[in-house]
Amino acid sequence: SLHSSWCTNGHLMCAGCFIHLLADARLKEEQATCPNCRCEISKSLCCRNLAVEKAVSELPSECGFCMRQFPRSLLERHQKEECQDRVTQCRYKRIGCPWQGPYHELTGHEAECTHPTKTGNELMEILDEMDQTHKKEMQLYNSIFSLLSFEKIGYTEVQFRPYRTDDFITRLYYETPRFTVLNQTWVLKARVNDSERNPNLSCKRTLSFQLILKSKISSPMECSFLLLKGPYDDVKINPVIYHFIFTSENNETEYVPLPIIDSVECNKLLAAKNINLRLFIFQIQK
Ligand SMILES: *[C@@H]1O[C@H](CO)[C@@H](O)[C@H](O)[C@H]1NC(C)=O
Ligand SMILES: *[C@@H]1O[C@H](CO)[C@@H](O)[C@H](O)[C@H]1NC(C)=O
Ligand SMILES: *[C@@H]1O[C@H](CO)[C@@H](O)[C@H](O)[C@H]1NC(C)=O
Ligand SMILES: *[C@@H]1O[C@H](CO)[C@@H](O)[C@H](O)[C@H]1NC(C)=O
Ligand SMILES: [Zn+2]
Ligand SMILES: [Zn+2]
Repeated sequence: SLHSSWCTNGHLMCAGCFIHLLADARLKEEQATCPNCRCEISKSLCCRNLAVEKAVSELPSECGFCMRQFPRSLLERHQKEECQDRVTQCRYKRIGCPWQGPYHELTGHEAECTHPTKTGNELMEILDEMDQTHKKEMQLYNSIFSLLSFEKIGYTEVQFRPYRTDDFITRLYYETPRFTVLNQTWVLKARVNDSERNPNLSCKRTLSFQLILKSKISSPMECSFLLLKGPYDDVKINPVIYHFIFTSENNETEYVPLPIIDSVECNKLLAAKNINLRLFIFQIQK
């Protein structure tokens, strides 16, 4: 990445590595240190070095497909339009061809691709499958739209803050302060999914969360809930609707995946001090 930071002793690292170091340090409950000189690094101690960034932008850099060197300023166009090794997809993808490969093999593949010679019936089957996938997506958005017509909807900004368990092996978890939605008091907890395995090595990080009802209720409360990006954080998160019937004994949901788009996003969240999201609760009334 072009955006570079340096430690107070001047050691450079790219933005991606920097965020990863901060996320790892948070998981291990350690101060993040520069891999070169072990001095402390943090968001506030780091400085972006604009002169270095400019110099770096003029250095040759390697194409991720063909490994040849190009001036940075030309690299984007090379990778998008010119590289013979760039990943391309068959033009018959629209009728179901899954082929993906380097650009220099594309013409050869397309000449031999069996998709254009499939019969109408075969194509119908392929299109049906593709329709199914599309339908699922549409169903999700339609469910969100119908939830928006419910009588009782509440939402609030929630801030997950990091804590440590006081077990023998301490573990990172997140919890929000209590908040009120739909006239009830709630708390959200979150944990790093792979925290039991090897947090320092794993690349595929995920988070899961649970919603806990803290108020006493006399009759069951059936809810749908949804966590989305809030107004103050730039998180990429997929909309997923969860359902739960809260009762006085059954007042917390299972841990369910927090559908962050990928583990780069997840590291970004872990590196941040707090995680700010927006929670919607829709009460289902019979
Ligand atoms: C909210 O809860 C309080 C006490 O729990 C209750 O007195 C009040 O009537 C409730 N308001 C609504 C709108 O349900
Ligand atoms: C990562 O964790 C493994 C096992 O838990 C440990 O052996 C290793 O030293 C750790 N690496 C770092 C860089 O902390
Ligand atoms: C939540 O559920 C637990 C276990 O069933 C119960 O002991 C506790 O009193 C409940 N809390 C509230 C606020 O209803
Ligand atoms: C993450 O944790 C939740 C709850 O513990 C579990 O349901 C889910 O399957 C886990 N996901 C992965 C990828 O391990
Ligand atoms: Zn190339
Ligand atoms: Zn094809």
